[in-house]
Amino acid sequence: MKVLVVGGGGREHALCWKLAQSPLLTKLWCAPGNAGIAAVAECVPIAAEDVAALVAFARDHAADLVVAGPEAPLVAGLADSCAAAGIRVFGPSAAAAALEGSKGFMKDVAARAGVPTAWYGRFTDIGAAKAFIREKGAPIVVKTDGLAAGKGVVVATTLDEALAAVDDMMGAKVFGSAGDELVIEEFLDGEEASVFALCDGTTALFMGAAQDHKRVGDGDTGPNTGGMGAYSPAPVVTPALQAEVMERIVRPTLATMAGMGHPYTGVLFAGIMVTASGPKLLEFNVRFGDPECQVLMARLDSDLLPLLAAAAEGRLGGAEPAWSPDAALVVVMAAKGYPGGYAKNTVIRGLESAAAVDGVTVLHAGTRRNEAGEVVATGGRVLGITARGGTVRQAQDRAYRAIARIDWPEGFCRHDIGWRAVAREG
Ligand code: AMP
Ligand code: GLY
Repeated sequence: MKVLVVGGGGREHALCWKLAQSPLLTKLWCAPGNAGIAAVAECVPIAAEDVAALVAFARDHAADLVVAGPEAPLVAGLADSCAAAGIRVFGPSAAAAALEGSKGFMKDVAARAGVPTAWYGRFTDIGAAKAFIREKGAPIVVKTDGLAAGKGVVVATTLDEALAAVDDMMGAKVFGSAGDELVIEEFLDGEEASVFALCDGTTALFMGAAQDHKRVGDGDTGPNTGGMGAYSPAPVVTPALQAEVMERIVRPTLATMAGMGHPYTGVLFAGIMVTASGPKLLEFNVRFGDPECQVLMARLDSDLLPLLAAAAEGRLGGAEPAWSPDAALVVVMAAKGYPGGYAKNTVIRGLESAAAVDGVTVLHAGTRRNEAGEVVATGGRVLGITARGGTVRQAQDRAYRAIARIDWPEGFCRHDIGWRAVAREG
């Protein structure tokens, strides 16, 4: 099979690294890819958002499968355009991708499907939004309906904070048109986890669980990021909880989406809060998490390619991914300053030495090679040092031993990735 992976981050490096091991694979492209992906795939200089150019490339090169990494091309109709061109695609249609693209749509689907989730209201009027907040009281959560690069969520502990969030999002439009509509919802207390399911429109298959660290600083402090590290399995997702999430959240959503005429294909990422009264849905994403994908791929013993192809073709029934009993953990190395401003094109050395540590794979998130052939940083999140181990603690130890070998003065990482799981291991 000839496969085109869309994207150029750590998630896509993990997908390409895993797909490259498939005996079914004859050719792997990645658009646009990065310096690490170039070792396992041919990088194609097409932006992940350029749907027309991606589809033209897949058609001209007779790709057998297009695998979408990020959400933006899916929301922009990548899967619909592939289908129209007769190209098989792993990822939902634009209508189904609205589960991530519109939080209001997601909440309506969850309500219709009877999924346990926070109570909510949808608002296009500032006055009505504020009246709802005053009626419900704090703590309360204010979200932009549309995509806002993961930043359109304010967990307000006071009424004033919630009212100010409405003014910023809907009045000042700090997230642009994403704030034309707001979702205001119940604050849920508990421990967060990410649960993944492969979906073929009618069948859903558990595809692993992970926990990530969203805050930039040690001890889960400082501003939110795209994710500074992750580990899998997630101890909080016990077998019973996994079954409950699949039965009460994922499968009813799949059935409801099919009933609405928007069958969901691809990977469904359920962000859940494990509350005192059971798991509740926080959000859906229509893609693998980044960096959660890195640890899922590290633990997946099965060939990934037939699983993605089966999901794309509506024949997942009977498939059963095999997982390593090992734990996997990824520590993200980011450019100093992230998630604020940071320097680009700083040189990174020691990557080969780091990759030589037992159980470690160095995945690239934002890198390219300069004219001298050196690896340089091009983004905020730059590397994902991924390790397997018999325990989370062993995986953590290996990842940090590898990081000690990386020579990149302009980079940093958190030093406590996995702390919750390590503490549970005792
Ligand atoms: P979202 O993009 O909707 O997942 O929100 C980003 C983050 O905000 C989540 O990972 C949670 O940490 C937090 N959050 C979102 N919704 C809620 C909620 N209803 N209650 C508590 N925390 C929330
Ligand atoms: N790491 C969280 C996400 O990919 O949305």
